[in-house]
Amino acid sequence: MIDTVHVPLDGRAYDVRIGSDLLARAGAEIAPLLKRPRVAIVTDAHVAGLHLAPLERALSAEGIASVSLTLPAGEATKSWPHFERTVEWLLEEKIERRDIIIALGGGVIGDLVGFAAAVLRRGVRFVQIPTSLLAQVDSSVGGKTGINAPQGKNLIGAFHQPSLVLADISVLNSLPDRDFLAGYGEVVKYGLLGDATFFDWQEAQADRIKARDPEALAHAVRRSVEMKADIVVRDETEQGDRALLNLGHTFCHAFEAATGYSDRLLHGEGVAIGCALAFELSSRLGLCAQEDPSRARALLSEMGMKVTLGDIDGELPGAQALLDLMGQDKKVIDGRLRFILARGIGEAFVTSDVPPDTVLTLLQDALSDR
Ligand code: GLY
Repeated sequence: MIDTVHVPLDGRAYDVRIGSDLLARAGAEIAPLLKRPRVAIVTDAHVAGLHLAPLERALSAEGIASVSLTLPAGEATKSWPHFERTVEWLLEEKIERRDIIIALGGGVIGDLVGFAAAVLRRGVRFVQIPTSLLAQVDSSVGGKTGINAPQGKNLIGAFHQPSLVLADISVLNSLPDRDFLAGYGEVVKYGLLGDATFFDWQEAQADRIKARDPEALAHAVRRSVEMKADIVVRDETEQGDRALLNLGHTFCHAFEAATGYSDRLLHGEGVAIGCALAFELSSRLGLCAQEDPSRARALLSEMGMKVTLGDIDGELPGAQALLDLMGQDKKVIDGRLRFILARGIGEAFVTSDVPPDTVLTLLQDALSDR
């Protein structure tokens, strides 16, 4: 069964299709968008080994010719040199304004290819085929595209919505446990930020999710995408509500910087730890019940995910250094940190009204548990 979540953005509406074995149907799904039967696929070396040939077969079964570019796997690809290579390759392949580019991969490929599509000939349509859980529930939907700068992550980019997203649940079976669970950090985030019923469901279904039961996974992806679509339609360019999607991210970005953006901490792992800390902070500020951060931590532990700073291997800087790193966050306005806090599970809100001393003590306590 295939579910559809429609993203009703004025003039740029699109569908997110969610289901098993969607890759094999990619030709039929994409054909209605095409003005001529030819597409360009951009992927990475790891994903290409697993999913490029099946995608090419699915396209060719519908009479769609394809050319492909395979970039190196990893975060370092989200950079000017690979971006330049991608744009120039698309021009060499004579990809025209009316054509479709396919991003086949995780968040790195989706962000880079979306940005290339945004600027190529002043804007070409693109289709996201996200192959990681994180990309399926977050980065492939909503039109944030871009690359990293030496000065920081995601600092160069554009809003450019895809024309279609194909989230194939079956490809999640090929993910290593660590990547799968890191992606699940973003799913937990959605329940915590805006849907207590979804959080209850995650508690009840933890065993099925861990076993990657396709029906449970499809529900987790669909509900996450519905919530993201709803927020993106309210606030496409993050003037307000879209910041809610950054629950846990102010902490996460500091921990990612402190660990050198290395595989000591994957982004989704930092989000999970950050969500637990955002709820602990909310509880210390008297905004939510003490039980709420305990429930958040219990679910993350039950899933086998990272929960505390003690779960990060190796040295970390002190609390003040971490707080300083939080000050580099993109959400800082006039030097004041903006936090996503919560009045309860499913009730997040954005505020700049957080005493730095409370955050410092929280970080000191979190570090002393290591
Ligand atoms: N990943 C956060 C957003 O799309 O706004």
